[in-house]
Amino acid sequence: MIANTDVKTLPGPKSFFGLKNLRDLSQEGMRQFISESWQKYGDIFVIQIGPKKLVVVIHPDHVRHITITNAQNYEKRESYDAVRKYIIGDGLVTSTGDLWKRQRRLMAPFYTPRGVEEFADIFLQDTITMTKRWDALAAKQAQVEMFDEMALITASIVLKAIFSTESDEDILEIKECVETMINYVGGSAANPFKLPDWVPTETNLNFKKARDKVHSYINKVLEARFALDEAEYPNDLLSKLITAEDPETGERMSRTLLRDEALTNFFAGYETSARSMSHAWYALAENADIKAKLHEELNRVLGDELPTLETLKRLPYTLQVIKETLRLYPPAPMYAKDVIEDDVIDGYHIEKGSTILLMPFFTHRHPDFWNDPLRFDPDRHTPEAEKARHPQAYHPFASGKRICLGNHFSLLETHIMLAILAQRFDPKFLPNYKANFKIQSLLEISNGLPMILEKRERKELR
Ligand code: HEM
Repeated sequence: MIANTDVKTLPGPKSFFGLKNLRDLSQEGMRQFISESWQKYGDIFVIQIGPKKLVVVIHPDHVRHITITNAQNYEKRESYDAVRKYIIGDGLVTSTGDLWKRQRRLMAPFYTPRGVEEFADIFLQDTITMTKRWDALAAKQAQVEMFDEMALITASIVLKAIFSTESDEDILEIKECVETMINYVGGSAANPFKLPDWVPTETNLNFKKARDKVHSYINKVLEARFALDEAEYPNDLLSKLITAEDPETGERMSRTLLRDEALTNFFAGYETSARSMSHAWYALAENADIKAKLHEELNRVLGDELPTLETLKRLPYTLQVIKETLRLYPPAPMYAKDVIEDDVIDGYHIEKGSTILLMPFFTHRHPDFWNDPLRFDPDRHTPEAEKARHPQAYHPFASGKRICLGNHFSLLETHIMLAILAQRFDPKFLPNYKANFKIQSLLEISNGLPMILEKRERKELR
């Protein structure tokens, strides 16, 4: 227990056993509720939800304390139990301690800025396939649901990158099954009044069916891989995972861990990138001046050509559009840590056993760190501006040692996707469209993002 009497109690909405907070949260939605509490209580406050204390953290200094300065006191424990149990087991998003350390060390080399360049051809080819689909749709100015379109590409990309999966049927099936698993964890598994897993309710059964299909697909790919001579292994993530050896013990990963890590990469890497891209289309349709600057850069640098790793370097504004999208509409609007021992942040007592909710969505809108925070402005991400700002004012990929492993993967993937697609297409809102951004475990547009596909002036691929 913290003995110092100068230590203050965290402010926050009063609520008998957290019941009123629970009701307000479900009625107003997370975004509204946290936004109002931020106005009232400031940059760090506590919300009691039932027996649980949730400490909401918005100020970059506090983000730094939790993720860097005193990171050993903030771990992924019970907040991650549902994802751990139902989806990814001991994969990197949920593992802790020595296992996490070893796995991160083994996998980090595949995800460096140079390492992810090995996947550039997959990013390019899958986006080209999409241009063919969009050519046909744009010819009749068809309406599409933008998130679904983007998820088609990112699911295909990540499955090719991990397993060299080529069959469209397999890609669709795995994508749907993983969606079912994610929805189960976000919905019924999180419901405190739910029936036990073994009760054969429709939701429990659908979850099990989806999980079994995903596991049996991964097992099938593993069997096929082990039947090959290592020299014949395709150059994908699975091969890298299978052959990776602990430098100290020479040990390789167990079959279960291989499955968990492969599934983790899919789970962490397809919906986030799809949301990043669809939010970019939203922002471009909202901001004609920014879209014009993007088109100018693409015309000037690429003309009618496809991007290469070389020409991408000359498309900085395109990447800045992605980075600004991740600021204003971060696909992962929050992430959690569990408090191991009592601590003090900025004079406030942080109680052992409470859960920290770090919220990039709000940090990224903090008026002390972002001038005119609601304005979409990619120039906030020039190298000079990045150097000048507080490092934790921007944390779309989390912060500290548990920063997203796939951040360079995703930035290269979406840089290529946006360059190719925005070079050729100009998706437009439906009349009177207004997006309703909602904070769930990911940031969602709850009324969807229907858009009309239009072609820019004719650009043939060479
Ligand atoms: C725009 C896209 C993405 C965003 C916004 C994003 C965001 C994040 C965030 C906020 C975390 C921390 C989660 C937590 O602490 O609970 C994380 C972790 C992680 N992400 Fe991403 N991610 C993206 C894309 C990807 C991709 C493409 C991959 C893989 C190919 C990936 C793999 C991972 C992994 C393995 C972790 C766990 C890292 C660790 O704990 O050591 N992510 N990501």
